[in-house]
Amino acid sequence: MSKRTLVISAIFATVALSSPQTSFAAAAEGKTQKAVLVTGASSGIGLKIAETLAANGYFVYAGARKQADIDALNKIPNIEAVRLDVTKQDEIDAAVKTVRAGGRGLYGLVNNAGIVTTGPITEIAEEELTWILDVNLVAIYRVTKAFVPLIIESKGRISNISSISGILSGMFWAPYSMSKHALEAYTDALAEEMQLFDVQVSAVNPGNYRSRIGTKEAVVMINEPYAQPGSPYAEDMVDHIAYLSDRMYKEPDDVAAAVMHALFDDAPKPNYLVVPNQGEARWTILRLIEEMAELNDDHEFSYSDEELIQMLKEATAAQRE
Ligand SMILES: NC(=O)c1ccc[n+]([C@@H]2O[C@H](COP(=O)([O-])OP(=O)(O)OC[C@H]3O[C@@H](n4cnc5c(N)ncnc54)[C@H](OP(=O)(O)O)[C@@H]3O)[C@@H](O)[C@H]2O)c1
Repeated sequence: MSKRTLVISAIFATVALSSPQTSFAAAAEGKTQKAVLVTGASSGIGLKIAETLAANGYFVYAGARKQADIDALNKIPNIEAVRLDVTKQDEIDAAVKTVRAGGRGLYGLVNNAGIVTTGPITEIAEEELTWILDVNLVAIYRVTKAFVPLIIESKGRISNISSISGILSGMFWAPYSMSKHALEAYTDALAEEMQLFDVQVSAVNPGNYRSRIGTKEAVVMINEPYAQPGSPYAEDMVDHIAYLSDRMYKEPDDVAAAVMHALFDDAPKPNYLVVPNQGEARWTILRLIEEMAELNDDHEFSYSDEELIQMLKEATAAQRE
């Protein structure tokens, strides 16, 4: 997908998604149970996706790292927990063997596991930066590469959990936004390459939903401050940590509904923007429009306002077809 198509399609990607319990239950009924692997299913969005899939009759391989999480997930009907640290190739290989031995094949892969690392990008330690890029980005390449033969066999779907940080960036958010911006590029390329196999690939871009992700990072930042002693950012970091600690957001049901759509609808979308309020939709869409205006401004091949509006109208119409 070209950058222009990405921009336009993300602008119009906000969807009104109906309840997954009602929309997709029929899809699983009376047919061979489709299997889906969800990475990072121990909490937050991954757990919600796993629970939603299982409640709708799909079979879920739920990736988790800790024994207590594995035990809890195994108690849920239609879920089989698999030990899966996405940074460990031996665990990925073992998970592929488990899924093959299960005999159900694999219809869906949901690359959800992720972390937040934030801090001043001129101060943060290189190992912190490379660690988040490994977990949020390279691990998705790694897991997908390992499971893609199974997905191709079933002409299945891949859903990558990105973020509005795949579009937005700003003070202290460079490590996380770098990982999610790159994930957008990865997803676009993968989607085109998978067309050869009738495998459809989507990016799901949530805004802020309730999970452990921010508080975990706040605790890390308090214990191992990323700003250097005497940092000019010290005061701003205090506010930033308070922001990360306050995760009183909505439960991520809408994110799970978007993933259900991406996995099972006849016309999955390449991009899903899933936000809990108008403000987060506005930040994201406005940023895309600003970037379009910045790129178009004052050069030999700029488009007129009228031409831009026409392009936007055509893109909108294409989304509705
Ligand atoms: N919540 C939001 O507002 C929001 C918004 C946009 C995007 N997202 C994205 O949604 C995804 C899920 O995040 P969340 O908010 O649900 O956070 P969360 O509750 O912290 O869940 C993160 C999950 O990823 C797992 N994980 C972390 N490192 C891993 C590794 N090396 N190998 C395997 N699993 C690993 C965690 O497992 P452990 O329990 O073992 O650590 C946990 O299951 C992430 O990709 C995140 O970037 C979240």
